[in-house]
Amino acid sequence: MCGIIGFIGQNAQKTILNGLELLEYRGYDSAGLAMRTQKMKNTEIFKCKGRVRDLRNIVPEEDNASGCGIGHTRWATHGGVCDQNAHPHKSGKVTLVHNGIIENYADLTEEYELEDVLVSETDTEVVAALLDKYYDGDPQKTIWHVAKKLRGTYALVIMFEDIPDRIFAIRNVSPIVVTTKDDNAILASDPAALYQFSKSYFVLPEESILCMEQGTIRMTDQAGNLIEPEYQTVDWEVESVGKKGYPFFMEKEIMEQPEAIKRILEHYIKNDEISFAEEKIPDEVLYSFDHICIVACGTALHAGMIGQTLLKRWANMRVDVEMASEFMYSDTRVDEHTLFIAVSQSGETIDTMGALKKAKECGATCLAILNVRGSSISREADYVLYTDAGPEIAVASTKAYTTQLLIFYLFALKAATLKGLMGKEEFKEALGELKKLPNAMTKILEMKNEIHLLSKEVVTAPDLFMIGRGLDYLVLLEGALKLKEISYIHTEAYAAGELKHGTIALITEGTPVIAAVTQKPLLAKSLSNVKEIKARGANVVLLTRSGLTKEIEGGYHVIELPDLSDAFMPFLEIEALQLYAYFVSSDKGLDVDKPRNLAKVVTVE
Ligand code: G6P
Repeated sequence: MCGIIGFIGQNAQKTILNGLELLEYRGYDSAGLAMRTQKMKNTEIFKCKGRVRDLRNIVPEEDNASGCGIGHTRWATHGGVCDQNAHPHKSGKVTLVHNGIIENYADLTEEYELEDVLVSETDTEVVAALLDKYYDGDPQKTIWHVAKKLRGTYALVIMFEDIPDRIFAIRNVSPIVVTTKDDNAILASDPAALYQFSKSYFVLPEESILCMEQGTIRMTDQAGNLIEPEYQTVDWEVESVGKKGYPFFMEKEIMEQPEAIKRILEHYIKNDEISFAEEKIPDEVLYSFDHICIVACGTALHAGMIGQTLLKRWANMRVDVEMASEFMYSDTRVDEHTLFIAVSQSGETIDTMGALKKAKECGATCLAILNVRGSSISREADYVLYTDAGPEIAVASTKAYTTQLLIFYLFALKAATLKGLMGKEEFKEALGELKKLPNAMTKILEMKNEIHLLSKEVVTAPDLFMIGRGLDYLVLLEGALKLKEISYIHTEAYAAGELKHGTIALITEGTPVIAAVTQKPLLAKSLSNVKEIKARGANVVLLTRSGLTKEIEGGYHVIELPDLSDAFMPFLEIEALQLYAYFVSSDKGLDVDKPRNLAKVVTVE
């Protein structure tokens, strides 16, 4: 969750603050940094509740001094949001920042009688205190000694008072990526903070300690053997990390969707065939499993639910979808006959990672659908399909969802043809619909003023309901998540047919409802559900497609989407719903990209 950074080189303070801003989407309730330059006798710490911009207000005027520093943006787990609990934490000669959770911090405090030296309520400070207790001038030895006592996940970046020109790091599960350029060495929890120096970086291996000095890095295992870094290169453009003139990343990322979809289509469709050859996925992976189990969290889970429908519909497969956090402790059986599919934008979500490890232990073949190359899940999975949507910075996921959807469409279509369940004509038609997506999705973006106008009606609403059937319902689950997470309006998506088994009791005069009606075979049933709520006073916006409008009576606000065949409508519906949520949030004056209590990368269970 939290963002961490360590830097040695020119303009240290400025580099750390800029890097923290790029990592802020990982957590933003507090920020802090510890600095050591030649002018300083001791490590100086600045930290506060709030954003990096608040931290900027309390650090001394920027100078160009070269030096060494560590920084942190926090998403609170242990201990409330206050200056004292912000990182870095210092204990005696040790200053550190941490991402993760030390599960046995209370036991360690008691066992090593640390109570009296702790000033914060965090699990992190316990590690600083333990390191200080054992520090004897040999940083590596001390870090190994303490690491063995820790239970949980951690990325720890550590400075020692008597070694002013070096930074040490160790990790278990929580990521740390590293690079060097000229006289600078930098590490962070996410490559986003490294692009300013280099597009090539390496992931710090677990079971190793990193020691950074000016322009050099050295990794050793516990026996002191040197470990060679395995560099990888990202092909994302450095500028793609910026907002490109949009007020919020979310708007920029919504706007990037047609281009991202086009890129994926061009990559995976060659000569009117879907090919995963570059990804080295053998055809058997697509058709030979009895059972598919899709596991993910949040938006990625919603993409998985649509994937389930497609795999059942087109490839006649038995498919379960589960929330990663529930899968871990559920009785769902996976074994060597299972293809386990983990879906994750970041590739770092701890629950999804845990689920994948469990599935592997049970003998399943594991495929991951990911956006971030080199992420932790990519290293665990047997096969990876990348969405390559470019960096997604806004906490509310948009382009990751539509690109994950597209991977499922391609996968299900390919599986259906390999299984002989889809004829040439039907396949050709489906490819034709996919190829229409970039243009059709651009048309939705061109409707943004119209959608903005409609969204103004709900800016002060306390609740909003979304109803639909089949794929419409599944896409509304994602639409509702967008609205609730960034506008704080209580929003629920319901299967339209289920509404009258309880929830319709909440519909009163003026209750806003978005009804998605795009699936032809379900039209009559969906419309009668819409009439039921209209009769009870609901203020309904109909999300439908041009081919169906003739069959719908007047009396509704309508968002008329371009006409694609039923199965492909989710791409268009979700873009409209993303824009709707975006405008409600920005009109409310909220920080669209950084909604309260949330973080982009969830590395705690
Ligand atoms: C967080 C983010 C969501 C995301 C979910 C899963 O909750 O705020 O936007 O969908 O994690 O993240 P992943 O990186 O695994 O897709």
